[in-house]
Amino acid sequence: MRPEIGQSKEKTGSLPAGADQSSNFSYFKAQSSWGATKHMGGFKATEELITMCQITPGKRFLEVGCGAGMTTWRLAKEYHCSVVGVDLSPQMIAWSKKRVEKESVKSQTTFVIADATNLPFLSDHFDIVLSESVTAFPREKQAVINEYARLLRPGGFVGINEGTWLYDDPPENLVEYVKNTMENVQFLTAAGWEALFKRAELVDIRVKVYKISMIEQWKNQLGGLRAGDKQDTLRAFKDFFSLSLRNPEFRKYARSITPSPAVLRQFFIYLGYGLYVGKKV
Ligand SMILES: C[S@@+](CC[C@H](N)C(=O)[O-])C[C@H]1O[C@@H](n2cnc3c(N)ncnc32)[C@H](O)[C@@H]1O
Repeated sequence: MRPEIGQSKEKTGSLPAGADQSSNFSYFKAQSSWGATKHMGGFKATEELITMCQITPGKRFLEVGCGAGMTTWRLAKEYHCSVVGVDLSPQMIAWSKKRVEKESVKSQTTFVIADATNLPFLSDHFDIVLSESVTAFPREKQAVINEYARLLRPGGFVGINEGTWLYDDPPENLVEYVKNTMENVQFLTAAGWEALFKRAELVDIRVKVYKISMIEQWKNQLGGLRAGDKQDTLRAFKDFFSLSLRNPEFRKYARSITPSPAVLRQFFIYLGYGLYVGKKV
């Protein structure tokens, strides 16, 4: 039987005390080391996505793949909503908990360690299921979108922001590069993401697709930072540089993910992000 909302499968764990200095880095492990996560389009995209989901104060959010809680605390503090944040990674959940405590919105938030393909909540409960840069990672994407739809109350919205191929035929070496450097990620075209929503029987589907550039990404990411975010981002940069200087394994990892100039050029030609919103009947 599925546990009640907010009932956690979480094991006890301690908050990360700064950077994780151990070896065998991966995309997620590196991010959880310094406790900063991101998605394409930054906070500008988050604001657009939650507006498309008709956010109003008091809404019950499920945020899947909440990472370091960068969106979670805002939903609680700036939009006065309640949020259940879910992530596969105990370290990410620990960063999120730290973040909401710092922003004094602990009472409006609950965190659960769980997999997006099998979320431990009762059906028909949430007003909005939000997920930013998460659904591209699990192989069973249809199962994930079905799960998001199951958890919504009728009339509620699923809103996702996901990496989107802007053309049907992205170069093979670019597809391989993103897969190998980002935890086997598989981006879809806008039509591919939309089809998942349709098969989950979501209606009134809206799609907005954007190109990205390095400058825009940094502008949107850094431009939306609030005071607490700025401190966390500075600390994250410090941890990043400290790892780069002191940890040879991390330097090896950083070299292994550095794209060739050709792949970097292709990246910004072929890859963008999409905001996808659908409503449960
Ligand atoms: C790129 S980060 C984005 C984090 C956050 N949404 C943000 O925009 O800052 C992806 C997050 O999704 C989590 N994740 C990946 N696969 C997941 C899954 N199957 N179920 C739950 N969380 C997952 C990772 O642990 C990571 O925290």
